[in-house]
Amino acid sequence: MKHFAIIPGDGIGKEVIAAGMEVLDAVSQISSFEYDGEYSQIGSDRYLKTGELLTDQDISDLKKKDAIYFGAIGDPRVKPGILEGGILLKMRAVFDQYINLRPVTSWFPLVPLKREVDFDIHFLRENTEDFYMGLGKRFGPSYSDKKNADGSYDVELGVKRESYNMDFKVNAHPTADDDYSIEIGLVSRKGITRWADYAMKYAIARGDDKVTLVDKANVITNNYGMQREIFQQKADEYGLKLEFMFVDAMSMAMIVRPETFGTVAVPNLFGDILTDLGAQLQGGLGMGGSGNINPNGVSMFEPIHGSAPDIAGQGKANPIAAVLAAQMLLENQGFPKEGKMLHDAVRYVLDHNQTTPDLGGKLKTAEVGKAIADFILNQKK
Ligand code: IPM
Ligand code: MG
Repeated sequence: MKHFAIIPGDGIGKEVIAAGMEVLDAVSQISSFEYDGEYSQIGSDRYLKTGELLTDQDISDLKKKDAIYFGAIGDPRVKPGILEGGILLKMRAVFDQYINLRPVTSWFPLVPLKREVDFDIHFLRENTEDFYMGLGKRFGPSYSDKKNADGSYDVELGVKRESYNMDFKVNAHPTADDDYSIEIGLVSRKGITRWADYAMKYAIARGDDKVTLVDKANVITNNYGMQREIFQQKADEYGLKLEFMFVDAMSMAMIVRPETFGTVAVPNLFGDILTDLGAQLQGGLGMGGSGNINPNGVSMFEPIHGSAPDIAGQGKANPIAAVLAAQMLLENQGFPKEGKMLHDAVRYVLDHNQTTPDLGGKLKTAEVGKAIADFILNQKK
């Protein structure tokens, strides 16, 4: 029996998770997969009422679960950055979900490319370091009254993680009076090593003979230079080929020759960008599932899309991304056969036009969920 935390969150998160839960229920009815789901109120409504984001109590409750099924957060009543940083990024950090798995699959006929091409790229985005550390500060006359006698500024930054804490003290001496801002992209040998190790194992499990590593090592030479060295050692260790791609070239290559990529490791910030491109390549944000994985801890599965407040509550949201997130959850929890049922069911509703209007269908969110669940239930007969 698996124990899941269900966090529908905000906006269309609530609708797509409801559909996803119907699908998980269907799977549990016809297979050995058994689970219970405890709902959590984490999200903007609670935040607006109580000021709470991801609390210590939430963390200790979630720690007891096998996995988290997450909808979306984001609300026009809340300033951008607060919910993202206080809930989503905090969750990835405190649960050390260092792999962000984002498959990009050619879901025909949704692929917007001119030629028909079959691809199945699995992005393994590093999910805890790089330029997502939150290590930054603005300084200068508008921001700091702490100018030293010699005209310099002491910029103090700190990070607190399960695996390490680090304090920075930058003594900045600008020669011109102005406002400045810095944002540190930090990577660690341990952080890269565990990610590289996961990527190699993942590629082998998929039957790929190479891993592609995306970076910008020609400009950000230190972080991504160290990253290349560690990936190369790992690739040698596992006997896999390692291909390096600069992120600018990669964004072109994803359009021109997506079928040439399999397992792709990408650092956090570039991974954020490339996986939105990937989502569009496979048929839109409504088709992308995302797994925030700690192989030894509590992982979290979510649709790649956000809370879409403009269409919330209207039943227009495409629940397929949430269903594909549920597929990843099942696979991650040791139910690959059951996961495949979801994949096949998604293929079926696409082939039979049982989709929401964004994909050209006429169904509502809940009706697509039901169509997917019915297809699964019918497998029993
Ligand atoms: C994503 C999102 C998040 C990210 C935001 C909401 C912080 O864009 O999951 O890709 O940048 O990682
Ligand atoms: Mg993103």
